[in-house]
Amino acid sequence: MNYYVAPMEGLTDRVWRQAHQKWFGWAGGPARYYAPFLSPPENRVLIKKKMAELAPEANPGVPVIPQLLAKDGELAAWMIGELRKLGYTEVNLNLGCPAGTVTAKGKGSGMLRDPAKLDAFLEAVFSHAEGPISVKTRLGVEKPEEFAAILTIYNRYPISELTIHPRVMRQLYRGQADREAFAAALPQCKLPVCYNGDITTAGQLHALEAEFPTLSGIMIGRGIIADPALFRKALGGPAATKAELRGYLDDLYHGYTELFGSAGCAISRMKGHWFYLIHCFADSEKLEKQLKKLREPWEYETVVNQIFTLPLI
Ligand SMILES: Cc1cc2nc3c(=O)[nH]c(=O)nc-3n(C[C@H](O)[C@H](O)[C@H](O)COP(=O)(O)O)c2cc1C
Repeated sequence: MNYYVAPMEGLTDRVWRQAHQKWFGWAGGPARYYAPFLSPPENRVLIKKKMAELAPEANPGVPVIPQLLAKDGELAAWMIGELRKLGYTEVNLNLGCPAGTVTAKGKGSGMLRDPAKLDAFLEAVFSHAEGPISVKTRLGVEKPEEFAAILTIYNRYPISELTIHPRVMRQLYRGQADREAFAAALPQCKLPVCYNGDITTAGQLHALEAEFPTLSGIMIGRGIIADPALFRKALGGPAATKAELRGYLDDLYHGYTELFGSAGCAISRMKGHWFYLIHCFADSEKLEKQLKKLREPWEYETVVNQIFTLPLI
């Protein structure tokens, strides 16, 4: 079973991917990191700053899979060609993002509204691009029953792996991933299938593997930010120590400060990580509130030092 890290805008960027590999990447690290989405530029001129995220020299080590958010299949195919020139093989198509700003433009899970358009998009992608192309999808827009028609379309294309996050667009991240709908759809899938959604412990990961032994992979997002040693633990390795967490978080903070050229911006990015990670520490409620409010680097460093005096759960 392959374990993958989910693409997460604002969290699983290149600074994070390098820090995660360094501290938690030995035996038990993920097989692949899926990078947060990029939109292919309509004028076909690559934006340097955005492409820096995927520069091969900034992404050594475990394979990184770029992800595209697009609704124009020919444009997506062109961008896949550009990514191949950089040395990437697999490219992932985002058919799952539920954000209103994305779906209003008919992208992400907005693509699932109209099966005919989805079919035309995939036809254009696969007729203009070669090599492995994977898809990350939700079950539909309003209700899971929509997935049967959507899957009929996916099954017609040589999608290298279909990652299913069993929620619908309208749900955003509310409620729970619909395991029943996933289980019902799985026998109809003719493609390698990866499961994604709401896995946060090694026990849950093992239970999922036992329930669905035919999966090609399991992808985890928020769970790996909350516990960066999750995959290692799932393979029988140790939990994260305080020293590892300290080194990992210091690398992230310094990496973001260098990347953004400002400790203030780094702090705001770090708050995104702490939102999930703080729950590794016992009795952290008071410090969590302080962390949310603080702005200055000295405040950040003081509060983080205090958090590290708390016991790990
Ligand atoms: C902050 C945030 C950013 C995300 N960004 C992306 C993205 O760029 N591309 C994508 O396909 N999914 C994105 N997702 C969805 C995740 O990849 C994943 O499908 C979702 O969080 C469910 O998995 P999990 O329960 O393991 O976190 C994002 C989710 C979150 C919470």
